[in-house]
Formats: sequence, structure tokens, C-alpha cells
Amino acid sequence: MPFFVLKLFWSYLVWYTRVIKKRSHRVKCPFQNDTALKSLEVITIPTLWDNYSYIIHDGHDAVIVDPSETAPILEVIQQNRLELTRILLTHYHIDHIMGIKSLYNKFKPQILASKHSLLPVPFTPIDNKFNFIFADSIFEAYSVPGHHASPYPITDQWSNIAWYNKKAGILFTGDTLFSCGYGYIEYGSEQMIWESLSLLRSLPDETKIFCGHEYTLGNTRFAHSIDPDNKTIQTRLTDVKKLLAEHRPTIPTTLAIEKKINPFLRWDDSRLKNILGIEQMSGFESFLHIRNQKIMYNNKK
Ligand SMILES: [Fe+2]
Repeated sequence: MPFFVLKLFWSYLVWYTRVIKKRSHRVKCPFQNDTALKSLEVITIPTLWDNYSYIIHDGHDAVIVDPSETAPILEVIQQNRLELTRILLTHYHIDHIMGIKSLYNKFKPQILASKHSLLPVPFTPIDNKFNFIFADSIFEAYSVPGHHASPYPITDQWSNIAWYNKKAGILFTGDTLFSCGYGYIEYGSEQMIWESLSLLRSLPDETKIFCGHEYTLGNTRFAHSIDPDNKTIQTRLTDVKKLLAEHRPTIPTTLAIEKKINPFLRWDDSRLKNILGIEQMSGFESFLHIRNQKIMYNNKK
């Protein structure tokens, strides 16, 4: 391919990602049962091709989840005059950590990451229950293994971390739970990811879910293919198409919605089991069956 064609293509990619995709979006997350009416704000930052990085802040201090790039994150921090105090990683995949070195060098935040990470900067290795206080609320680390997250082929606990703030009702799931889907399994097992999804599903319905990628359209199309008469899925599919056409994220979603539409949280949903003819299967067997349906769906495309 001639060099100028490559250069043209590269210029288009840069223009697309900078001008179209790099619009951040804000979500107010009020503290529940809080008479002072305090809140945190989550800023969703589209990064790379379809990643999301997140800035959580109280107007002064900020925490970043999965800095996939430097420039768009830095821009938001500087525009809002925020003080970056911590970086939280959900897992070690390269597309979730590419901005970490330059952000660390500039702000020297505390970095909280799985003990299985190999980072170019000092970090606090998470290998057990862990929490920290941020703006009068608590962030908790949950171990959610199953999706790969290590430089080594290990299937250990704490290879993937979900970050949960109960007071603000926000959950950062990385590549473990997506809207209408879940993350692929590299070194983990089906049992592992199912147990991780079970843990996340047990959180309060109103929890806002912020995941690591914009995969919602494809995932929702699959959900629709196996449960076409589900009105909630139909509505979500229409909404998702509209949001994406307007270059807006489909995230956050909520656990309440996901329990109705995400096939990988519906292993004990009698209606879906009836449609699929798997009424006799256990919860885990149903999960495996739905997973196989998705694999066949992907292979047909
Ligand atoms: Fe990943």
C-alpha cells in the first residue's frame, strides 16, 4: 500500500478519535440517603477505538479508572482544575493502562492494581479485600476473575477487579461485565466468570454500571436474537442505536436494566429458559448454554 494512503488513513483515524469520539460525558451520582445532598460526578472519556476511561471527582479531587490514553484524560483534568489522587485499574490488559506512565509522572497519584500487574510505575498491589475513602464515600475492590488480566497464564483471584462505591451507587466493571454481555475468557474458566457475574448481580438494582468498552450494540443484537419479543430489549436496542448515532455513550447502564436484558445475567430467568427450552438446566448449565448460543451467533456473522 502506498505510503500516502497509509498517511491519509492515519490522519482520518486521528481526526475521528480527536474530533468525533473524544467528547466526554458527565453523569451526576448523588449519594444515597444523604441529607447533605452530596454527589460525585463520573466523566466518561472515550479512548482508543472503543475503550472507556472514567474520571470520578467531587469538584476538587479526582480518581481515574483505566487510563487507556493520556491526552483526552489530561484535557478533562486540566479543564476542570482537578487534583488527580488515585488511578484504579480493573485489569492488566494493555488497552486499559496505556496512559498510566505519563499520568503518574505528572501527578504522582497512588495506583491501585491487581498484584498480577507488571506496570512501569510504582503501584499498590491488590490481592485481598481493599477499600479507600474518597470524598466521604468508600470505594471497595471486588475480586472478579475470569477475563484475562495478567502477564502470566494464571487464573488467580484478584486478577480482575471491580471497583464499587455503594454510597454513590457506581460500579466499574472493566471487561468482566458489559451492557448485555460479559468479557471473553482467556485464562479463566466459565465457572470463574459465572461466579464473578453472580457477585456483581447481587449488588443493588439501582447501581450504575460503567464498563471498559462500547460493545453494547452488538451485545444487544445478540440478546434480541434469542429473546425477540422482550420489550425491554427492543427499547434498549432502539435507544442504543440513537445514542451511538449521536456519538454518545450507551454507558452507564444499571443493574436493574441488565437483569432484564443481559442474557449472561439471566441464567435463572424462567421466561428466557422457556424460550431456549432449557427449563431443566441448573443456573450454571443455563449460563453455559447461553454462552454457546453467543459463540454460534458470533461464528455465523
Ligand atoms: Fe481486557
